[in-house]
This record gives sequence, C-alpha cells and structure tokens, in this order.
Amino acid sequence: MGLFGFMEDIETHVFGRLTLRWPPRLKRRLFDSLVTGSAGFIGSHLTEALLERGDRVLGVDSFDPYYSAAQKRRNLRRSLANPAFRFLRGPIQGVRLTRYLRKGAGIYHLAAQPGVRGSWGTKFEYYVQNNVLATQALLEEVVRSGVRSKVVYASSSSIYGDQPPGPMREDATPNPISPYGMTKLSAEHMGRLYARAYALNFVSTRLFTVYGPRQRPDMAFNRMFHAIRSKKAIEVYGDGRQLRDFTYVGDIVDGIVSAGATDTEETVFNLGGSSPVRLDEAIAHIRTISRLPVKIHRLPTPKGDPRTTWADNRRARRELHFRPRTSLREGLRRQWAWQSGEAGGDLVG
Ligand SMILES: NC(=O)c1ccc[n+]([C@@H]2O[C@H](COP(=O)([O-])OP(=O)(O)OC[C@H]3O[C@@H](n4cnc5c(N)ncnc54)[C@H](O)[C@@H]3O)[C@@H](O)[C@H]2O)c1
Repeated sequence: MGLFGFMEDIETHVFGRLTLRWPPRLKRRLFDSLVTGSAGFIGSHLTEALLERGDRVLGVDSFDPYYSAAQKRRNLRRSLANPAFRFLRGPIQGVRLTRYLRKGAGIYHLAAQPGVRGSWGTKFEYYVQNNVLATQALLEEVVRSGVRSKVVYASSSSIYGDQPPGPMREDATPNPISPYGMTKLSAEHMGRLYARAYALNFVSTRLFTVYGPRQRPDMAFNRMFHAIRSKKAIEVYGDGRQLRDFTYVGDIVDGIVSAGATDTEETVFNLGGSSPVRLDEAIAHIRTISRLPVKIHRLPTPKGDPRTTWADNRRARRELHFRPRTSLREGLRRQWAWQSGEAGGDLVG
C-alpha cells in the first residue's frame, strides 16, 4: 500500500474528522525527523520534543493491538494539532518512508513489540516481526535511499540480563535472559552490521525502566496505580527487593534527542538515572502520592526478570550531556496525575 493509502486509512478509520491529506504543494524530502512508534508511550513524547525544537516530523505507527488504540490516539493528540507533523498508520516494513525525508534527517526508531513476560511462548513471532525484521527492513530502506540519515535506535537494558553486582557499563558482555532482550540485542547487532557495511551512522540508546505519563498499561507503575484506583490489591512479583533504575520519560527523551544531535565516535549509550531503588521503596512513594490504602499481593518472580537494572551513565553524561533531573517521587506524582485524569499526559504538570 502506498503512502496515500496510509493517509486515507488514517483519515477514514482512525481520526475521523481530522484532515490529514497530503498537501499537494509539499516537496519530497520534506521532513527533518522520522519517528517510528510515534503513537507509543516514549515515541509520542519524543515526537512532541522534536516538534518543539522546530522540526518537521513524520510519525509512523502500526497501532499494534498489544494495547488499546484509544490510548495511542490520545498519545498523538497534541502532535496532530501541530501543522509540522504528519502521521502514517501502518507497519514500517514495506513503506518507502525515506522518500519524504530531507537529506541528513534524523531517524528515531522506537517501533517495537515491547514486554518481557509476553515474549515467551507463542507470541514470540511478534517479537521477531516487529523487533528484528522491521528493523532490518528500515535499515535496508535507509541505506538504499541515500538519505544519509543518522539512525537512533531505542534499545533496552534487557540486553544486559543478569550481570555482576553494580552499574552496567556499555562494554559489558550482553547476557539477555528473555526472548524480548534477545530480539532487542539482535536489532542492535543488525544496526552495527549495516553501519559497518554501508558506513551508516547508527546509535543504540539502551533505555532503563521508563515511567511517567502515557506509560504502557502492561508496565508495573501503570498497573499499580490502576489497581489502587480500582480498590484492588497491587500485584508485586518477587520479594520487592529487586533493584530498578526507574528513569522518567522526559529525561529519556532528552537523551534520545541529544544522541541524534551529537557528533560522537561512540555508538552505544546507557540512558538511565544511575540511582536504582528497591521496588518496595517505589511502592512506598506510590502509597504517599495516592493517599489511598495499598494492599499487596505477592507473586513469584517471572522468568526473564533480572534482579537488578542499574545504568552506568557516565558515557552519556560525558558525550551527550545527559542529566536526568526528575526524582522518582516527582515523576510518580506526574504519572498519578495523568492516570487520575487530572493531567492530559504532558511531561510537566
Ligand atoms: N518503556 C520502557 O521502559 C522501555 C525500556 C527499554 C526500551 N524500550 C524500547 O523503547 C521503545 C518504545 O517503547 P514504549 O514503551 O514506548 O512501547 P509502546 O508499545 O508504547 O510503543 C511502541 C509503538 O510501536 C508500534 N509498532 C510496533 N511494531 C510496529 C511496526 N512494525 N511498525 C510500526 N509501528 C510499530 C506500536 O503500535 C507502539 O505504538 C521500544 O523499542 C522499546 O523496546 C522501552
């Protein structure tokens, strides 16, 4: 299906009254940035940040049914109100996206099938499709087009898996312990191969346990806030003493934007706060913020969950001037405000 087909699809089925027809006077190689997965949790915030910087942004997202299309539509609402934004609904495989990018445009590749627990069993096929094959298709398209873009890939702390105690450095040997982590590492390697073979500029950012407004409904804080609001017990996997380097989505977005803008020899960056807390401590904040009774239902640790995520972020601090500023308490307060319907999902409020 061609680009116009995608546009029609959005217009008719997704956003109804919104007009997203391609203006005929627009020239090719128009956009400064392409964001894949732009209707998702992190991708929608990143899109807004790039628009705020003054970029013309092309977003693409398949509206994968992993979670509700209604949330993805809400995620896109602010960007769609900006005339510098265009959105294509569809999988990145098989669409000649680069025809609409100017030379040297930034490509931010966030589209993926996320989630550690779901990656076992029969759903693994989706992980291969959306994490490995889709990445290969995008890379192939980029190198064939001659658009000379820098590709910034959203990788994951899951590629580390279990490591010796302490912060995880970029040069540690990857040791994924879930099929999800394996596919994210595979996509990183794919990028490296294309970089080597075609002198493509490819940078992996390894994101650590991201949270904040618009967080995916399968993620821990979202599920916890949701349970509390529904007066149900929150489900906690394991003993609650696992360490997580929770990192606020606004700080992550700053790191990704900087990775796209900075000239550096380095090609892999940890994006994490480097201040891990125990899950139980995070739950104590949740109790204070919600001011509601919190009942806990403990469940066994699922396979694929590491004991610790802890970023060594010195490289990102040095090269990207990455400075995570949002405390866990403040970030959780913003996520609670969003989940309680008091705020629209913006990064501050
Ligand atoms: N949220 C986290 O804590 C976290 C941590 C580490 C890495 N990441 C990575 O960051 C990225 C964004 O994660 P998120 O939490 O925002 O997830 P998300 O599910 O909210 O966003 C991903 C989006 O990609 C879209 N998508 C999936 N396959 C596609 C395809 N083939 N073509 C076009 N669109 C497709 C989905 O519809 C979805 O909207 C992912 O690559 C994920 O692996 C996230």
